[in-house]
Amino acid sequence: SVIRLADYRPPAWSVEHVALEFDLGIDRTEVAATLELVRQADEPIRLNGEGLELLSLGVDGRTLAEGEYILADGVLEIAIDAERCTVNTRVAVHPAENTAFEGLYLSGSRDRGFLLTQCEAEGFRHITFFPDRPDVLSRYTVTLRADHDRFPVLLAGGNPDGEGVLADGRHWARFVDPHPKPSYLFAVVAGRLERISHDYTTADGRAVALHIWAEADVIDRCDYAMDSLIRSMQWDERTYGRNYDLDVFHVVATHDFNMGAMENKGLNIFNAKYLLADPDSSTDDEYRHVEAVVAHEYFHNWSGNRVTCRDWFQLSLKEGLTVFREQSFSADMNSAPLKRIEDVALLRRAQFPEDAGPLSHPVRPSQYSEINNFYTATVYEKGSELVRMLAGHLGQEGFRKGMDRYFERHDGQAATIEDFLTALGDANGTDLSPYLAWYGQAGTPRLSAEGRFDAAQRRYRLTLRQRTPATAGQTAKQALPIPVRLSLFDQSGKALPLRLEGEAAAGATERTVVLDSAERGFVFEDVDASPVPSLLRGFSAPVILECDYVPGELAILLRHDPDGFNRWEAGQQLAGLAYDDCRDGNVEGSALRAWTEALTHLFNDKGVDDALLAELLTPPGEIELVERQAERDPDRIRIARQAMLRKLAQRIGAEALRARYAGLRSETTAALDAPSQARRQLKRRVLDLYALIQPGEARELARAQYEQAPGMTDRLAALTTLATLDAHAAEAAIAHFRQRYDGNALALDKWFAMQALLPGADALARVQALEDDQAFMLKNPNRVQSLLGSFARANPTGFHRADGAAYRWLADRLVAVDSLNPQVAARVATAFNGWKRLEPVRREAAHAVVAELASRKDLSRDLTDILARVALG
Ligand code: ARG
Ligand code: ZN
Repeated sequence: SVIRLADYRPPAWSVEHVALEFDLGIDRTEVAATLELVRQADEPIRLNGEGLELLSLGVDGRTLAEGEYILADGVLEIAIDAERCTVNTRVAVHPAENTAFEGLYLSGSRDRGFLLTQCEAEGFRHITFFPDRPDVLSRYTVTLRADHDRFPVLLAGGNPDGEGVLADGRHWARFVDPHPKPSYLFAVVAGRLERISHDYTTADGRAVALHIWAEADVIDRCDYAMDSLIRSMQWDERTYGRNYDLDVFHVVATHDFNMGAMENKGLNIFNAKYLLADPDSSTDDEYRHVEAVVAHEYFHNWSGNRVTCRDWFQLSLKEGLTVFREQSFSADMNSAPLKRIEDVALLRRAQFPEDAGPLSHPVRPSQYSEINNFYTATVYEKGSELVRMLAGHLGQEGFRKGMDRYFERHDGQAATIEDFLTALGDANGTDLSPYLAWYGQAGTPRLSAEGRFDAAQRRYRLTLRQRTPATAGQTAKQALPIPVRLSLFDQSGKALPLRLEGEAAAGATERTVVLDSAERGFVFEDVDASPVPSLLRGFSAPVILECDYVPGELAILLRHDPDGFNRWEAGQQLAGLAYDDCRDGNVEGSALRAWTEALTHLFNDKGVDDALLAELLTPPGEIELVERQAERDPDRIRIARQAMLRKLAQRIGAEALRARYAGLRSETTAALDAPSQARRQLKRRVLDLYALIQPGEARELARAQYEQAPGMTDRLAALTTLATLDAHAAEAAIAHFRQRYDGNALALDKWFAMQALLPGADALARVQALEDDQAFMLKNPNRVQSLLGSFARANPTGFHRADGAAYRWLADRLVAVDSLNPQVAARVATAFNGWKRLEPVRREAAHAVVAELASRKDLSRDLTDILARVALG
């Protein structure tokens, strides 16, 4: 059954207050609920409930007999005359049997693990009967009762409101949340957990106890998360004037979690992968992810919790906005251009393919059959790009004013994307409604730019055109407002002051023009010679730029553009052309030459920052390069990409690479400051380039680096280089790592993933062998993602074997995972996205497998939905 945005109706009953009482047990937990309901429309009360064993049901103190209510298809319906009433239910649930990790479930083993909940999007209905929709906001009082030894720690969202010991020896704790919230933000945690704490005072003077909780063996890896949390709180106070609003803030780490983390009010719950960090088990990238995800969940307290979503179609209202806030925070904490590079690279790798295939959907979808399948790169990452465009349009001050208005106007409400645009617009006396079209239209717009220089008139005319290809179920496309930030450079790499036709005087060297129709020309005056345009600076809109630069022009930008992001971008575009040369067997191609020469120049230019250089030395990945040919053969893509990298390595030269590596090597520590991280990143790139031309020597360097590595970043990089060079020769090191980190789940995930990503014909056999490792298990989402997910989604040559063996293998595993955890199965299944653009042999093989899977009747709604859409191609 399909849910449609157009069918939205406000709730027929609101819930003013809900009191929940939990009698907690691993095998069986009883939940008593008291709901204070208030009529809003002339309809029966309808409460969602799934997988609940109903023990008793009463209205206004009277027990209902069978026949006085209807319980069918996950809905409990009670017809009643009153305007208000109190509904009492008592249900039993079975946490240890809950392998889907939605609702109340057990993390870890039966004898040592702990209980926790995950409710977004629709998990609360697996805990108790309730109108489980985000526009029902209620005040919560939660009482937990449990055996003291088994569950010494009892947590729920809100402020603590008493605790004690019961006559039967169990203990209890109560929590009251003064802020009305939707059910998806409810959470409880109970078990044996340790904590680290910090006393924080908000800018508006509230004393807040911050607690991070984790199991004893990992509690010493929570310090970086605490540090990140404090910086996030300070940043939101400074940047948005937003203060925290309860007396306590809990954060909990679990190894058993379907997603990254969850912003439950006052009780954030994290996949341990995004909370724990220490130099011996975490890479630099992982430190940055912890910082970003801690910030993301904290920022939700305003963008998501205080102002929530009216319905799940508005998901990007909180997610796109919060990703934008998180990205801005990370940019402030680290290097802004590098952060932008990382974000755009992610968008291209994860969101562009989504937009281009059968799973495409607008940032605000208009229908869904399983909402969990819409926690996508489109809703999150593209959604953030849309907020970024709005912020760019309003300017820093205007955006802040708009956000103040949005938070004030909608505090305590469940809002829509229109509400957001209206509040931002109202605060600035401007109409942002044209941007609404971005939210409703799927597909990545193609922006083409064509420049014409008129020497006689000293004019440069830039013609911009847009076109969005048809996407699944949405063929008619409209023109969108596309802000294009641009500069013009002369041939020596100097930026020109810009004067548009009709303007009196030249102004800044950078400005933003908006293309709001299919085509428009912009004329620049006083231009002496044919300029090189630097377009879409900072990636000012989420589009694909088509501009027929000659390689020399991109080389000018790559060398001279003062903006780090655009410099990288010019390098990416030039690398794309260089790739085309290699793919077409044109080893003497002018783009390939321009790219290798420009990068060699930058490599030898001591003025270039190490981290930026590392990024510049990385061409678009195999997944992004798919777009550059009509039919996709992953083996050929890899061969061409490797060939261009080898050319680059040869051009820079073995001597220069070896010397640079040695220099970086001698400064190696595990310190986390930015320059140290940058050195590690560059060192890795340099060694990988060196390996392409001097594999024997590179192997010895990698081996030594592995043995002497002061931290995980260097250790894992060396192991990867070693294994990529020769998996056989790396066996001893691989075995060493396995043993060194036995019992460290997050390090083992990286060990599985590293091997799952090794390219080539042996990949499937390697993955199958890894399934036999003692530490492999289908019931842990991180483990499934690290082996199955990495292989299927990020190892194109391994997964897309021409004989289709990997497709058949994955289909088989998907069925097994699905029977345990539908959300995880559905996510891994997106690996089949884009099968239709494969070359014919692979396409045939993939199609057969997808069609066969899609025809099964015994799969979850989550997996069925993905397969049905993917099968359409
Ligand atoms: N709101 C969470 C976050 O973005 C993600 C929760 C996703 N849950 C799900 N079942 N899809 O931080
Ligand atoms: Zn989020």
